Amino acid sequence: MQIPTADDFDALTEWGLVDDPCAALDDYSTERAARRASNDRHRRARREQVENAAPAFVEDSQSYYRTMDRPIDRTKWTYLKRRKAWFQPPVGWGTFAAPGTSRILDLGCGDGDQTQRVADFVAGRWLSADYDGYPLEIVGVDLSASRVENARRHARSPHEKITLRFETGDAVDGLDYGDDFFDHTLAIGLFEVLRDEHAETVLDELTRLTAHGVYLRDLLDDYPGLTPRPDLADRLATRGFDPVERHELFEEPFVDEGTRDPLGVWPMNVHQVVFAAASDPPTHADRY
Ligand SMILES: C[S@@+](CC[C@H](N)C(=O)[O-])C[C@H]1O[C@@H](n2cnc3c(N)ncnc32)[C@H](O)[C@@H]1O
Repeated sequence: MQIPTADDFDALTEWGLVDDPCAALDDYSTERAARRASNDRHRRARREQVENAAPAFVEDSQSYYRTMDRPIDRTKWTYLKRRKAWFQPPVGWGTFAAPGTSRILDLGCGDGDQTQRVADFVAGRWLSADYDGYPLEIVGVDLSASRVENARRHARSPHEKITLRFETGDAVDGLDYGDDFFDHTLAIGLFEVLRDEHAETVLDELTRLTAHGVYLRDLLDDYPGLTPRPDLADRLATRGFDPVERHELFEEPFVDEGTRDPLGVWPMNVHQVVFAAASDPPTHADRY
């Protein structure tokens, strides 16, 4: 990916997310998804993504992430934060800003750009409600020490009541936090990179750690080394987290003739976003 220019940032602004952060939900239809097959730029980008899949990633994503060393430039980090906002809309995030939410986990946080979006969303909600805030700790955990380092370098708390913390950890091995430690957990693009037995283990761990709500975003298209799981919401439900919302959406605004991503970072893939709530949340007394 090349260094984004001011024009590239302007192009993203035209996607309209400032007015409607959930614009991707209305943009998607199954009929449009089928039309991607006749979209040359999408097909080319898809072919390139398949051909460029790193063999080490396809072989073993866990070892790939554990050993990767990839510092990220601040301009790219900021561009990707905004670019990904299209397909990671803040579905259910209003509950993160509610008084009483004191701990949020971003599991598989990567470079922390989406963790930053969560913090900015909460601070923005508080500001627009003229509310002083509630002490909130947002913890990003990732297998990749290099990505955790990127997150520590670039992410900043937008509010005096919000603490951002990043640590290295393996969701398959389990995290050193008690049951229901976090009010809410996000897993953005985590399950798609896990093979089946790891995905089951991480679903168990994520739901063990979470008291109230889970937000997932995951790929639904097939790629080498990536596993689409259209039934993730059902798998959460069997673990006591009932789907409140589930949406399918494109990775970028739909256009028939190609991609609207100025840097052509990805094909026009289809993803799912799920927000699920605990059917029988623990009481405050049980947790503290
Ligand atoms: C597709 S990236 C998504 C990163 C980030 N959530 C985002 O939206 O930019 C998947 C991330 O999951 C992390 N990951 C993979 N396996 C993991 C595990 N067992 N425990 C914790 N993180 C893991 C990877 O290191 C990688 O940063």
